[in-house]
Amino acid sequence: MKKRIAVLTGAGVSAESGLGTYRDNGGLWDNYDPMEVASIEGWYRNRKLVLDFYNMQRAKLAEASPNEAHRLIASLENGYAVDVITQNVDNLHERAGSTHVVHLHGEATKVRPENTFNDEDGFSEKYVFDIGYEEVNPGDKGANGVQLRPHIVFFGEAVPKMEQAIGIVEKADIILIVGTSLQVYPAAGLYRYASPEAAIYVIDPADVPLFEPRIRHIRKVATEGMKDFIDILK
Ligand code: APR
Repeated sequence: MKKRIAVLTGAGVSAESGLGTYRDNGGLWDNYDPMEVASIEGWYRNRKLVLDFYNMQRAKLAEASPNEAHRLIASLENGYAVDVITQNVDNLHERAGSTHVVHLHGEATKVRPENTFNDEDGFSEKYVFDIGYEEVNPGDKGANGVQLRPHIVFFGEAVPKMEQAIGIVEKADIILIVGTSLQVYPAAGLYRYASPEAAIYVIDPADVPLFEPRIRHIRKVATEGMKDFIDILK
């Protein structure tokens, strides 16, 4: 039976692919107000602003490639049962070869009619479809004739995959946290569900708020820190 690794990633794992983080200096939220471009109130206030923001994210993603950290995370599957639980909306883990990826905050390449994906339909994905790196604009409608929206968990919305993510973390033998400032809940609290026997590692060049003395912090960028992590596993 292979040991289980849960890899919890944030924007920092994609930083070396040229995609911005959110809260570092010069990050996305230095240039855009998340409450305008990434919240449910912002969506109802100005759909075009939100659609344009994610059109820009998709265009950047079309030019980006997975980096060595994504590839090393994917390579863990050779010896372990690996689940990646990412806050990122990019598709770089999948493109690097990871086969079990849970997107807590949605996916930039996916859209759905704005009147779907709610408690009534059990947050099903039956209305969600992948548009790749194409634009979505006001007036673009789904098969049900309703305006399309990004398949992103906006600020102010539920995180439908949180239960699934907790179940994965509870069963993991090793938790690896890479490139997240651990500021946005409930995702930031996920590692607290680790079993007392699990080993927990963090890869981040900066200090991040950690409340467990057992956590080992590899204070490096993801591409370097992943090499150290793989050496530790040997
Ligand atoms: N390698 C590893 N970590 C890095 C690197 C790098 N090259 N560069 C930056 N980091 C770290 C930063 O030190 C920081 O801890 O990545 C983290 C980025 O933090 P944020 O920008 O806050 O990104 P994230 O934690 O993913 O944000 C969480 O906030 O706005 C919402 O939905 C959005 O999913 C996002 C969530």
